[in-house]
Amino acid sequence: MRVFIVGKGGREHALGWGVSRSPRLEKLYAYPGNAGIADIAEIPPLPGDELGTLVDFARGAAIDLTIVGSEAPLAGGIVDEFQRAGLTIFGPTAGAARLESSKAFAKELMASVGVPTAEFGVFDDFNAAWHFGNTHHLPLVVKADGLAGGKGSLICETPAKLEKAVDAMLTREAFGQAGRTVVIEEFLHGEEVSLFVLTDGRGETCILATAQDYKRIGEGDTGPNTGGMGSYSPVSIVNSESISHMMRTIITPTLKGMEAIGDPYAGMLYVGLMLTMDGPYVIEYNCRFGDPETQAIVPRIADDLLMLLYAAATGHLPVRRVNLTKKKAACVVLASEGYPGRIQTGYEITGIGKDDYISVAFHSGTKLSEGKVVTNGGRVLGVTGMGATINAAVHNAYRRAEKIRFEGKTLRKDIAWRELERMSKKRV
Ligand code: AMP
Ligand code: GLY
Repeated sequence: MRVFIVGKGGREHALGWGVSRSPRLEKLYAYPGNAGIADIAEIPPLPGDELGTLVDFARGAAIDLTIVGSEAPLAGGIVDEFQRAGLTIFGPTAGAARLESSKAFAKELMASVGVPTAEFGVFDDFNAAWHFGNTHHLPLVVKADGLAGGKGSLICETPAKLEKAVDAMLTREAFGQAGRTVVIEEFLHGEEVSLFVLTDGRGETCILATAQDYKRIGEGDTGPNTGGMGSYSPVSIVNSESISHMMRTIITPTLKGMEAIGDPYAGMLYVGLMLTMDGPYVIEYNCRFGDPETQAIVPRIADDLLMLLYAAATGHLPVRRVNLTKKKAACVVLASEGYPGRIQTGYEITGIGKDDYISVAFHSGTKLSEGKVVTNGGRVLGVTGMGATINAAVHNAYRRAEKIRFEGKTLRKDIAWRELERMSKKRV
């Protein structure tokens, strides 16, 4: 099978790594790719990533399956465009991707099908938003409706912060078009967990895994939000009974709701959940694999990832649950100094070393320059450790991460702390 991966992050490297293990893979291409992806895939010299260019390439290279990593091309209609050209592609159409690209759409869908989520209002007018704020308990969360790179949600503990957040989005357009409409919702208390489910657009679902990511830049979950500084999988507080409950109360009604409005959902449905005292509530939907959760999930997959993604893309998912190894995995992100703010790139990276059964280094912001691998983004590498226990996985990740060197290397030392804490409590 000839496969094309669209994207350039650690998630895309992990997907390529997983797909490369399939005996059915004949040839792997990726665009734009990075220095690590270039080790496992051919990077075609395309003039850019406009949809027409990607369709022409896939057609010319006789691609059997295209896999899209990030939300922006999905929201921009890449799946619709490929399907119109008769090409097989993994992911939702732009209409179905609204579950991620419009928070107002997602909340209204949840309300209409009874999926548990925080009480909310949708506003494009400051006074109406302000009225909602005054009649609900703080803290409240103000969210830009559109895609904002994971930075469009502001938690407001005081009336002054609420006013500032609403004013910034609605009046001063701090998030541009994405913030012209806002969702304001109640704050949910509990622990967050992500559930990853494959869907084929014809009602079949296949549970992939649970994971937790570490969004803040600082240890102890402090400082500004990032794209994600680390992750681990699986999350032991979610057992198979609670996954069945989530499938029943959240995934199935969501998919039925999408089908009912004529936008059946196919691809990866990644749901961000809050485990509250009243059960799991949806914080957000994502229409693609998570980054860096995927780096912790893919090394755990025992099944043929390529065939699973192909089955989801062609409407024939064969199983209800992906077979996973018993291994636990933790991914530690190595970022550039200053991330998520201003960073400098172009520093040589050394000591990446070789992958084996206890660790893999997935590239994010890297590129080849004069034969050397150099930094090329905020998140540079994701180092995944595997082991029989979460402690072993974390140990293996940090041991490998310590050996990797580049100017300004920044990492969190406490990835998977929640799970480690649970395990140490279990032992006493
Ligand atoms: P979102 O932009 O919806 O992905 O939210 C980003 C992050 O903000 C989430 O991962 C949560 O940590 C936090 N968050 C969003 N909505 C809520 C909520 N209603 N209650 C508590 N935390 C929230
Ligand atoms: N790790 C968060 C995301 O992929 O959106």
